[in-house]
Amino acid sequence: MKMPSSEYYISEIARMKAEKNAIILAHYYQTGDIQDIADFVGDSLALSQKAASNNADIILFAGVKFMAETAKILAPGKKVILPDINAGCSLADSCKPVDFRKFKDNNPGRTVVSYVNTSVEIKALSDIICTSSNAVQIVESLPLDEKIIFAPDRNLGNFVLNKTGRDIVVWNGTCHVHEEFSLEAILKLKKENPEAKIIVHPECELPVRMVADFIGSTSALLKFTQKDTGKSYIVATEVGIIHQMKKENPDKLYFPAPPKDSTCGCSECNFMKLITMEKIYNSLLNEKPEIIINKNILIKAQKPIKRMLEISAKLGI
Ligand code: 13P
Ligand code: SF4
Repeated sequence: MKMPSSEYYISEIARMKAEKNAIILAHYYQTGDIQDIADFVGDSLALSQKAASNNADIILFAGVKFMAETAKILAPGKKVILPDINAGCSLADSCKPVDFRKFKDNNPGRTVVSYVNTSVEIKALSDIICTSSNAVQIVESLPLDEKIIFAPDRNLGNFVLNKTGRDIVVWNGTCHVHEEFSLEAILKLKKENPEAKIIVHPECELPVRMVADFIGSTSALLKFTQKDTGKSYIVATEVGIIHQMKKENPDKLYFPAPPKDSTCGCSECNFMKLITMEKIYNSLLNEKPEIIINKNILIKAQKPIKRMLEISAKLGI
């Protein structure tokens, strides 16, 4: 049987979106074709802000499960669909509720600041959520003497600890994309392209962060390339973001930071890349897989996310 063309998928997706009053929210790590059909493309903070305020009946999330769950928690009355339910996150998986409960018990009296890259259960065990766009400001919003647990990303946690000087105990989790960048290969690339600025996501390991000209969330990296007068960049985060960078500044050069294993294509998040145009089409057609969250846990997880959104709104982030 002949596969439908991408034009067919694109026009049918647009037709179904209008018919069903659906919107597509896409993360910067999606492939370029998916970013281009989305109603809104953003980082995890902007996507949760958008999920909390829109008039759609259906949100199709082109991203990973924790992002779709966050959308459902913020818009419980809407149908939230994720085109591939296996689109997880190695970082979220590195923090299991049973282990995290023990960790909390071993570190009593600490405020739990969790990265949005966590399961609903971990969010429900947290006092406040953050994303890579606001992690430093969220921690700084807490009283100076407050003792903190930061979970699950050890690199982002240590980045926040160094920036704020706060008393933070960090959970030992990592992301399979960001811990794979090779310092040696980045420095080699820099030697070949000395004018290129090294721009780095805070989930990267310390040696990579140490050689960065700029460190920031995906949207901060994008803004940096837009405003900066430089002409080329070595980009140490998932390669999907380069699609937006090229769209905004097509004349500049963007080099994906090489991974330690040059044969593995590890600068792509294989969970993000499970989402395809065909799966988006099928998902919108059948209105599934749907994100369903137990009401009690949803209410518990909603509180720390709303706290993050309130603080971010106050700070204008
Ligand atoms: P952002 O907060 O920059 O969107 O990052 C999300 C993420 O999954 C990073 O790996
Ligand atoms: Fe999770 Fe890493 Fe993929 Fe981001 S890039 S969704 S942290 S596995």
